Amino acid sequence: MPSLNDIRATYLNFFERNGHRVVSSSPLVPRNDPTLMFTNSGMVQFKNCFTGVEKRDYVRATTAQKCVRAGGKHNDLDNVGYTARHHTFFEMLGNFSFGDYFKEGAISFAWELLTKDFDIPKDKLLVTVYHTDDEAAALWSKIAGLPEDRIIRIATKDNFWQMGPTGPCGPCTEIFFDHGDKVWGGPPGSKDEDGDRYIEIWNNVFMQNEQFEDGSMRTLDMQSIDTGMGLERIGALLQGKHDNYDTDLMRSLIEASANVTSQDPDGPGKVHHRVIADHLRSTSFLIADGVMPSNDGRGYVLRRILRRAARHAHMLGAKDPVMHRLVPALVRQMGAAYPELVQAQALIEETLKLEETKFRTTLDRGLKLLDEELAKLPDGAELPGDAAFKLYDTYGFPLDLTQDALREQGRTVDTNGFDAAMAEQKAKARASWSGSGETSDAKIWFEIAEDKGVTEFLGYDTEAAEGQILALVQDGKTVPAATGAVQIVVNQTPFYAESGGQVGDAGIIRTETGEARVTDTRKVAGVFVHIAEVTMGEIAQGQGARLEVSHGRRSAIRANHSATHLLNEALRRTLGDHVAQKGSLNAEDRLRFDFSHAKALSAEEIAEVEAEVNAFIRQNTPVTTRIMTPDDARSLGAQALFGEKYGDEVRVVAMGELAGSGKGQDGKTYSIELCGGTHVSRTGDIGAFVALGDSASSAGVRRFEGLTGQAALDYLKGQNARLHEVAATLKTGPADVVERVHALAEERRNLANEVAQLRRELAMSGGAQGGPEAEDIGGIRFLAQVVNGVSGKDLPALIDALKDKIGSGAVLVVADTGGKAAVAAGVTEDTTAKVSAVDIVKAAAAALGGKGGGGRPDMAQAGGADPSKSAEAVSAARAVIAGAN
Ligand code: ALA
Repeated sequence: MPSLNDIRATYLNFFERNGHRVVSSSPLVPRNDPTLMFTNSGMVQFKNCFTGVEKRDYVRATTAQKCVRAGGKHNDLDNVGYTARHHTFFEMLGNFSFGDYFKEGAISFAWELLTKDFDIPKDKLLVTVYHTDDEAAALWSKIAGLPEDRIIRIATKDNFWQMGPTGPCGPCTEIFFDHGDKVWGGPPGSKDEDGDRYIEIWNNVFMQNEQFEDGSMRTLDMQSIDTGMGLERIGALLQGKHDNYDTDLMRSLIEASANVTSQDPDGPGKVHHRVIADHLRSTSFLIADGVMPSNDGRGYVLRRILRRAARHAHMLGAKDPVMHRLVPALVRQMGAAYPELVQAQALIEETLKLEETKFRTTLDRGLKLLDEELAKLPDGAELPGDAAFKLYDTYGFPLDLTQDALREQGRTVDTNGFDAAMAEQKAKARASWSGSGETSDAKIWFEIAEDKGVTEFLGYDTEAAEGQILALVQDGKTVPAATGAVQIVVNQTPFYAESGGQVGDAGIIRTETGEARVTDTRKVAGVFVHIAEVTMGEIAQGQGARLEVSHGRRSAIRANHSATHLLNEALRRTLGDHVAQKGSLNAEDRLRFDFSHAKALSAEEIAEVEAEVNAFIRQNTPVTTRIMTPDDARSLGAQALFGEKYGDEVRVVAMGELAGSGKGQDGKTYSIELCGGTHVSRTGDIGAFVALGDSASSAGVRRFEGLTGQAALDYLKGQNARLHEVAATLKTGPADVVERVHALAEERRNLANEVAQLRRELAMSGGAQGGPEAEDIGGIRFLAQVVNGVSGKDLPALIDALKDKIGSGAVLVVADTGGKAAVAAGVTEDTTAKVSAVDIVKAAAAALGGKGGGGRPDMAQAGGADPSKSAEAVSAARAVIAGAN
């Protein structure tokens, strides 16, 4: 009996053998569709190949596509567990032709695979075609030899397949398997068609049209093929089962559920096991594709599925969380075909455990309240909307969970009442924010948030996605269309909005009619505001848009942000545990990290920090992201911003491995931080880190700045170029520059001394004139000299030399120090009783426009402002000496 894994492989091999490229499943969160919540069929990733907008290097492809139908247009959630063929998660096998083979090729391949490779008896198969499609009917008769009564013409949209309200579409032919007359049901198109006798197994769509929003349809330039076969269905058939949940893969998950809950897989809890098996697949695959539980959008669908599963586990009597314990069984079954499951296993387990643990704290009380409410009602009566709303609002029961719980009793919920209660709560919230003093500027974003919902961020996983323009704001008002400066709101975006020190993303938003350049992205009230300028055409509200984050800029920001985490840890380890983050900036061109530390870092400390960050960059280990409660994060030792308010779940980013040193916050991881930012996938992606050093930011806070990646290399390149220039000027090689500079400095010092000495000598010699002569002032010999080009500190030596020259008496030196004056006086020992050098210098300094002067009776010095007054200074000195007699 072939397993589902065998059947998947047989399908893909068959088409590969027939010239098809085996393409990997695309993620569950579609990147190329503005409105689709989850990938719900194989053709989603090829949508633009059918319309001709996108060309690939192959024209035939085959995939096993993971699909989720649990929200949006296709929603199977309500029926899961209760029917044989509903799933929130399933795999769609498909083969695709882009303008290559058409109806004949598709029908031939399908018939050959089913009747030869899968060995299904021909007489068990029958098909439907669109009522006007004579060509397909004729081909079935020619290729398969099917009689007229097994080629059924269907006039409804069942045989005209459309991916959505717009997009590629075309007539289709569906292949059915007849389980024989033991099972009740009629052929397709008959009144008993809903019975289980005839089961559709494969849909082949002849893509030849494109549907537009205004209802018009065009014929596509090329004719293509899109097919879809549910693996679980064909698996059941080939394994001789009637129920998808009896296939080997689903059965093993059901048994895992039975094991962990110790409940018979086929006993009274059968439905619960089936729901758990199905929900395990959808939740795990969604988490692996980057969806995290939240209260909006895709995250809320995930939460809803998980909470439903938690209730079913509770119904099985489970006292502890169950879902995360089933993940290994799922990974064993599907990990080989979908390696993303293996890669994300730890994240899946942790997220499931966290969500289920949290929900269990209110589940019991919620169920009790539900019982009490039901006890008040007559048999079979509807549950009032406000009770369902209370369960939603207070106990975290999604509406569909309550409906699911009531289904077992054949009851329903008053959904209108529920909606009314929800609207009332929103109105209260509005009243509170409109009275909260928000500026009218901010008010518009609250209104948009309420009206259109908050923006879903896709940017952890992708830099490009499609979104729908929900609002355009100019001058604080919404406008239907815009040119020029505008703020753009979309339903989902890959653009990161500024927060946590990381700057907002820039990039391009394109629609059918125009293009806008986004320079920054901010977030208000959960709404991402793309600050943009329409640079081509115009853009309009309601349009689908392609959003592309500037890749180079985002990569640089990412590298800076991850390096900041490494820097934080390196600083803590180098300087001590008192280092706490006080702020940060992660921009495109640099990073900045403010932290508590009282004094400037030494050159050695900076070098140590820089070397440590680079060592972890070179380690090139994966950067991981997990979601947990703040308490769990704290017990892991995660670094958080002091005083920051965190919600009940936090994102924890970890990087760097410690080789058995036991030094890490959790014993093995280097850096663990709470963080909502975007990061590199491996530390090696940072490239390199250059420390620019630290400066004071505020009291007790230092600011460390650094560069990474290309900016770091450019910086080093610039430094190197300067070094070469210096070396060339010094006529030496870069390796000898330092030695050469030291030698030059030494040489310069020697020369300076020599010059000073020579100047003094020159000054004393009086040049060619042989120097001034001493005069006699009332019995005191006096010698004065005016000199140029010496400095104040040279004067004492000159005074001593003059004193020696006269032997006894007073001397004066007036110097022009280059725009300013300096003056010194000296009196020989034998004369100090008659006149003081201090008095002489004071008088001379005053004549030079200076003040003061100080020293001893034998030697004093002062400064002056005007060197041209040297003659006056000498006269003033003479007068003091004359007066001394
Ligand atoms: N896209 C087609 C379907 O989902 C094959 O049925």
